[in-house]
Amino acid sequence: MNNTQTYPVYLSMHALLLTCSLVLGVSVSAATLDDTTSRTARHATRLAFEVCGTCHGAKGISELPKIPNLAGQDPDYLSAQLKAFRNQTRGDPDAVGYMWGMAAALDDDTISALALHYAARPASAGQVSTPSLLPAGRTLYQEGLPDLGVPACSACHGIDAHGMAGFPRLAGQHAQYLIKQLRSFQNNMRDVAVMHGVAQGLKVKEMESVAAYIESLR
Ligand code: HEC
Ligand code: HEC
Repeated sequence: MNNTQTYPVYLSMHALLLTCSLVLGVSVSAATLDDTTSRTARHATRLAFEVCGTCHGAKGISELPKIPNLAGQDPDYLSAQLKAFRNQTRGDPDAVGYMWGMAAALDDDTISALALHYAARPASAGQVSTPSLLPAGRTLYQEGLPDLGVPACSACHGIDAHGMAGFPRLAGQHAQYLIKQLRSFQNNMRDVAVMHGVAQGLKVKEMESVAAYIESLR
């Protein structure tokens, strides 16, 4: 009689302990996951300030016109570019010289954390360096050059150049960097079919004016 009473008690205690250890086990592994995520985020923040920041600026706004601003850029675009440097598929000379080495040792989680770090920073406020180029640049950006088969940049990068759905933000980017990229798309050193098609018919003066206009946007 005694036995039949203690047995279910023992069973339910055992079940309770099992449940506790399962719950504890789950919460321990969730905590480990959280720890890893926040450790990766801390590592990315440290890298951004101590390494990337020496060229791209402490806030992701670079002081040097041939080095791109990263602040406010689309995180998926940033991740894709870091992977392209790591895979050595983005091959313009400054990418090879500066970024292949930088990206070589980054794992996917660190790349994602770096991308989120920069995407969350306020973007460049833009600057006007050559006012005389702005009207032609605006026309080219917003309307393209239909006679020459150059599409409007706004169709993919947005009317405000803030980017959209996988197309990078351009607004406020350094003109010198933009011109360098347009030339790299043109000669396929940065091998991206869609931008090769856009840039192939552009003359130097047109690149300069569209870059000046884009740089002026905030
Ligand atoms: C020694 C200078 C230097 C350092 C340090 C550096 N970069 Fe760069 N980065 C560059 C240059 C120069 C370019 C432009 C390459 C080109 O012209 O194609 C660039 C381009 C990029 C781009 C492409 C941006 C775009 O709009 O397409 C990303 C993303 C980037 N760097 C992220 C990083 C991250 C993250 C780090 C730190 C892990 C870092 N960089 C460290 C010089 C540097
Ligand atoms: C059909 C869509 C499309 C149109 C139109 C287009 N772009 Fe792009 N552009 C892209 C895509 C996609 C990328 C990202 C390429 C990559 O993944 O490396 C890009 C990238 C760029 C970059 C590199 C940005 C960086 O941070 O390195 C520049 C500069 C650029 N485009 C300028 C222009 C200009 C100027 C025009 C108009 C003359 C234009 N684009 C029209 C799709 C387009």
